[in-house]
Amino acid sequence: MYKFVLILLSVVGMVTASCAQQRQENMKKEQSNPKILVAYFSATGTTARAAKKLADVTGGELYAITPAQPYTSADLDWHDEQSRSSVEMNDSKARPALKGRKENIADYDVVFIGYPIWWNLAPRIINTFIESHDLKGKTVTPFATSGGSTLAESATSLKKTYPALNWKEGRLLNHTDEQSIRAWLDELEY
Ligand SMILES: Cc1cc2nc3c(=O)[nH]c(=O)nc-3n(C[C@H](O)[C@H](O)[C@H](O)COP(=O)(O)O)c2cc1C
Repeated sequence: MYKFVLILLSVVGMVTASCAQQRQENMKKEQSNPKILVAYFSATGTTARAAKKLADVTGGELYAITPAQPYTSADLDWHDEQSRSSVEMNDSKARPALKGRKENIADYDVVFIGYPIWWNLAPRIINTFIESHDLKGKTVTPFATSGGSTLAESATSLKKTYPALNWKEGRLLNHTDEQSIRAWLDELEY
C-alpha cells in the first residue's frame, strides 16, 4: 500500500511538472509570437495603404475603423470652419459613432492604431475606437500618415488622454517601405 501511494504521488508530481512546463512553453510562445491587430481609420485611402503594408510585414490582421457616417469631401474641408472635421477637431469631447466594434479584441496582444493626422492630432473617431474597446494589458502603438506634420503631438495627446494604456513609440508611415517598417518593428521588439 505504502509503495502504491509513493508511486501514485510520483506520477502526480510528474504530471504536474509536465503541465507547468507546457504552460511555460505556451506563455513563451505567446510572448514571442504575439497576436497583432492593425486597426486604422482612413478618410481618403493613404492610411489604409500604410496599414496594409504594416499588416503584411507583421502578419497582423487588418481592421478598418469605420465611421457610422462616412466623411464626404465637404466634411474634410479644413478651410471651412463649419465642416464636420473642423467642428469635431475643435471639440475635444467629440466622439463620432463607429459603424461596428471589433468583437474579439480580447484575442490580441498588440494593437497598432493608424490614422491620418488632422490638425496635428488623431481624428476624434480614434478616441471613439479606444473608448469602445478594452485595450488594457495590450501594447498599443500609433502610426499615421500626414501632409507633412509629424506624429509627435497626436501620440503625446493620446498618451495623455489614456495614461492607463501601454503605449509604444509610434511612427509616421508616409512613403514607408518594408525595410523601414522592419527596422521600427525591431526597435519595438515585436
Ligand atoms: C481635416 C483634415 C485635417 C488635416 N490636418 C493635417 C495636419 O494638421 N497636418 C498634416 O500634415 N496633414 C493634415 N492633413 C492631411 C492628412 O493627414 C493626409 O492627407 C493623410 O495622409 C490623409 O490620410 P487618409 O487618406 O488615410 O485619410 C489633414 C487632412 C484633413 C482632411
